[in-house]
Amino acid sequence: MSKKKFSVNGTFKDSVNTIKFLTERKQFIDSAPAVLPTRSDDFGVNKVAKSLHPKEQKLVISRIEEHGNIAKSYYFKSDTELAYFKAGQYLTFKLEIGNSVVTRSYSIASSPASALNGEYQITVKRIADGFVSDYILDNWNVGDEVIAYAPEGNMTYCPLRDAQNIVAIAGGSGITPFLSLARAIDQGDEDCTLTLLYGCRTSDEILFKSELDSLSERNEKINVVYVLSHSDEDGYEKGFVGADIIKKYAPDEIYSVFVCGPGGMYKFLETELPKLQIERKYIRFEVFSSGKKVDEEPNEYNITVINRGNETVIKASSNETVLCAFERAGIEVPARCHTGECGFCRSKLVSGKVYIPEGEDKRRIADMQFNFIHPCCCYPESDLVVRIN
Ligand code: FES
Repeated sequence: MSKKKFSVNGTFKDSVNTIKFLTERKQFIDSAPAVLPTRSDDFGVNKVAKSLHPKEQKLVISRIEEHGNIAKSYYFKSDTELAYFKAGQYLTFKLEIGNSVVTRSYSIASSPASALNGEYQITVKRIADGFVSDYILDNWNVGDEVIAYAPEGNMTYCPLRDAQNIVAIAGGSGITPFLSLARAIDQGDEDCTLTLLYGCRTSDEILFKSELDSLSERNEKINVVYVLSHSDEDGYEKGFVGADIIKKYAPDEIYSVFVCGPGGMYKFLETELPKLQIERKYIRFEVFSSGKKVDEEPNEYNITVINRGNETVIKASSNETVLCAFERAGIEVPARCHTGECGFCRSKLVSGKVYIPEGEDKRRIADMQFNFIHPCCCYPESDLVVRIN
């Protein structure tokens, strides 16, 4: 076999650079630890990933703040580092209520910087027929240990996706993700403006009013407007947050609309937001509270649950999700996001009809064809037979 000769034509400068590179590489290799890490946890990148996405976090309630008799804020600390989050994300808590193991998501009210200082805050409001919220309000005490998954959620400001001006529409305890955003803007951690339109029935129901007022006063990027639907008090807008009020306060430049509030607010905005002719990509709803069904007179249905060959018949209201009916009845179904996204609760709808709120059907096409559902975002519209996987 003939030997081929290769030659590389380089300059003197190339030679100097090559020697420099080789010297630096040697120094870098020499500075590495003599013993390589053996456990995957010891690698820096894995440590970061684990701290950002822990499987579960054990949190201890360090403080409880009462907001009249309508809501409470819970502050949590942990022995270990808290997972970081973006303003607008939520925590999903795992609770045992009687024989039921349930999960519920609550937006984080504190700023992301507070997680770095070892604290989360959520706010829970009492709601009519609230299965989990009422349990929390009546049973969680300072010193109790609770389990939460890592922060999740997409209702966060993303400069590549959203306009730099955010018009946030909040109702009731739906203020919490926007309080977090306002705090993050004020602390210099988010570079957007916030026009916050906060709808409540009366001024007594406004949460965090003094803090919102002072944020609005001291930071020109934050503007807070209160809108009361059941009161004529002076100094407030009247009615519901709709197209007219949004137009009145929204900035002249292009803006994104973020919404978090009760089901009735979403229904109202379904007809109001199109009047603004905003591109759909600039409208974001907090998914875990968006499509709640609000039948004035809810129907009651039977759900036959097939679980490993056993059949159980449970009752379900047309105003609660199929997953909520399972949880009430003590039937454990894996669930994480409660938004239809993760697919953990995927089950087979053998027969019957369910309502899936618009925009919440995140099933794969094959699942739709073969009648699999995500019970966390389906509401019964007839008696059902459901097989849990
Ligand atoms: S809990 Fe995630 S899809 Fe149902």
